[in-house]
Order: sequence, then C-alpha cells, then structure tokens
Amino acid sequence: MACVDSNAERIRQLQEGHIPIFEPGLEELVERNAGAGRLVFRDSLGDETARADAVFIAVGTPTRRDSQAADLSFVNQAARGIAERLDPKQGRTVIVTKSTVPVGTASSIEKLVVAARPELRPGRDFDVASNPEFLREGSAIEDFMQPARVICGTEGAHAERVLRELYAPLNVRGSPMMFTDRATAELIKLASNSFLAMKVSFINEIADLCEQCNADVQDLARGLGLDQRIGPRFLRAGPGFGGSCFPKDADALVAIAREHGVDAHLVETTIRVNDSRKHAMAERVRALMGGCVAGKRIAVLGVTFKPNTDDIREAPSLVIVPELIAMGALVAAYDPAASANARSVSAFQGVLWVESAEAAMREADAVVLLTEWDEFRSLSAQRMAELLRGPIVVDLRNALEPKDLQSAGLQYYGVGRGRVQPTPAHRPGRDRKPD
Ligand code: UDX
Repeated sequence: MACVDSNAERIRQLQEGHIPIFEPGLEELVERNAGAGRLVFRDSLGDETARADAVFIAVGTPTRRDSQAADLSFVNQAARGIAERLDPKQGRTVIVTKSTVPVGTASSIEKLVVAARPELRPGRDFDVASNPEFLREGSAIEDFMQPARVICGTEGAHAERVLRELYAPLNVRGSPMMFTDRATAELIKLASNSFLAMKVSFINEIADLCEQCNADVQDLARGLGLDQRIGPRFLRAGPGFGGSCFPKDADALVAIAREHGVDAHLVETTIRVNDSRKHAMAERVRALMGGCVAGKRIAVLGVTFKPNTDDIREAPSLVIVPELIAMGALVAAYDPAASANARSVSAFQGVLWVESAEAAMREADAVVLLTEWDEFRSLSAQRMAELLRGPIVVDLRNALEPKDLQSAGLQYYGVGRGRVQPTPAHRPGRDRKPD
C-alpha cells in the first residue's frame, strides 16, 4: 500500500518512522508494516495509481471561511491527480472517498474525472464509491480493526466487489458491512456525528438541570443508558464537545440542509448549545472563585479536546482559557501531550506552560480540569491539597473523586453532580450557582 501526501516534509518524517500525530499504537503499526515492505510513503501520486484496485481520498475537508459548508478543494485536487493517472488497460480503479464530504461528492468526483478524461466511462473504466470513516482519535486503531459497521456507498457491482474483498478480514471477525447508494453513505457519516453531538449537548443540558435539582447526572446517565433504545455511550456531561469532527460535521449538515431547503433545527440548536456552554464554563469558574479571578492563579489540567490525543482543534480550552485570562486570571497549564503544540496557539497567549500537573497546581488558587487524562484521575487528593494555595477544584469532566478531595479539605465542583455551590467564604448567603 502506498500513502501519498503533498506535504513532502510530512512524508519524509513518515519515511523515517516518525508519526506526526499522537495516536496510541500507530507508530508500532506503521513500523511493522513499513519494515515488512507492505507500506510505503510518497509525496506524489505514482504508477501505483493506474494499477490500484482502489484509491482512497482521505484529505481534509475543513469548514470554509465564508460559510458552514465543507471546503472540497483538497478532495477535488486529489481527484484530479488520480484522474490524470487512471489507465483502464492496467486495471479498473475504484476511487473511494474516505474524507467526510457533503452529499453528492461521489457523483461530482465522477463528473470531474470525466471532464478531465472524456475518454473514460464511469462504471466501466473506473468507479467512484463512498466509504466514510468513523474512527475516534485516541482509539483509531481499535475502531478500524473492530468497527461497529463498515458503510459503503457504491453504484455497480464492481465497486461493491472490490470493497467487499478489501474489508473481508474485518467482516469475517464480525463487523457488519452495509452497502447503500453513495448519497446515503455520505449522509450517514454526517448524521452519525450530528446525532452523537446532539446526545452530548443533551446530557450537558440535563447536567445543568441536575445541578439546580440537586440530582446526579452520572447516575442519571446510567439510568438513561440502561434503556437499550438510548444506550449508555456519549452521555458523559462535560464542558462541551470539540475536535475535528463533531463541530465541523454538524456545521456541514446544517449547510447541506439549508442548501436543500430543509430545516435542521435540532442540529443548529446543538451547535448553539455547545458554543454557549464553553463560555458558561469560564463564567462558572469565575463564579466559583467568588465572582472575580483577577490576579488569581488558576491551574488548568488538560487542553486537548479529549484524552489520548494531542489535538486541540475546537477544544473547550480554546474558549475557556482565553476568557479566564481576559478576566485577569494567571493561568498555569499542563497537558500530557499538547503542551508543546499549544505554546504556539495564539488563543493561549499569556498561558504559563509547565511540565507537570503538580507544577501547574503549586500555589494555585484553583484547579480546573478540562481533559480527563488518566494521569489526572490518579492524582492524590492529599498531594493536591498540599500543592494548592486555594481550595477550589473545578472538575469539568467528572474525572476526580469528590469524597477524597473533600476529605483532603478541598472544595469539589463537578458537572451535574448535585448543587454547585459557590465557595461560602466568598459568597455568603448564596447556595446556588449564579450563572
Ligand atoms: C468523533 C466520532 O466519534 C468518530 O466516529 C468520527 O469518525 C470522528 O469524530 P472524535 O472526534 O475522535 O470522534 O472524538 P469523540 O470521542 O467522538 O468525542 C468528541 C467530543 O465529544 C470530545 O470533545 C469529547 O470530549 C466529547 N464527548 C464525547 C463528551 O463530552 N461526552 C461524551 O459522552 C462523549
């Protein structure tokens, strides 16, 4: 298999065995397969394209600057490059979109290929199929090896046969394959991510309600999830969803719905709820610190959008941290994987980056946990109490054990875990979170 990227520097790194992203297990996997000659990296499309049974387009589809729609310029560029190299005499190639794309992209790629090579006939000399990916960062290999489903959008028996053969090893191990038309496959991806994002926003709203009703969102989520129609996953309340997929794909779904004159109220609201939640979390910290954070030192633990990745795209930290700094707080932050990358991110200007959770917490007035890395779960409450100057622990991922922290003399505030009470010392007479 040949992996091609136009970024020559990245390809050079990969050829040297350096993986430019943090993804558990990926380095070993690449090393093993490159070492065995099964995997090569190139900075341009080569002769393999003409001989390939399938060519996957897996380039980025960022949100366009001028709208919520996806930018297809990289996809189209890749498709044009493939079109130039197709050679039916050397074999019929299936062009497969793996990138998350708007509905209708497979058929527009087909047209693009024909425009570039009028002599080629779709469905005879080449095919275009859609095969969306559902990999989560941090568990991408496991998700690939044991997918809940493999969705393939095809037109014609040849593309179906090639994809069936390709995925047969996963299918044999029990992962179902589903074949559908191309537009449906494209839409399944956007609908899946929008639905999961909606589930997260739903539980976040319920967490707010739990706080006002003195209920516990963790138990509530367990109770909800036991209903098999709902299911237990993606019901963890937190500071809002981020990452390279949920926000972008929800935006893309709304853009497509608009284009087709369809209301997507639920998804639009999901996006709005999530955006405002990130701001509300900064306000929550301020309220819990007595309504003013100016001059106070806040330890931030974790800035990635979730653990086991170094990705900070759309992370809640990108809103919460700058807002705390704008309010006058002195932020010392630590992330197990992203501290180095984050230093150059303009939103984090003014942050003091430190080398450990302990260093961040030393002499801090409060600690705010933004990402549920395992190493934070295992922090000793006693040690935290020794390091911190103030008693406030704001756990926006419900990753810490309230009882341990309270026994160590700290004030614990989770998300949706009973009533959030501002510190009595600062807000006498109030027993409800003001925001
Ligand atoms: C997601 C999809 O899960 C995956 O199928 C798709 O291919 C790519 O997008 P990913 O972005 O890696 O994967 O992360 P995911 O684990 O889905 O989490 C997305 C965001 O939702 C994170 O910010 C996470 O913290 C948040 N989240 C998730 C919650 O706040 N609560 C939950 O219960 C689950």
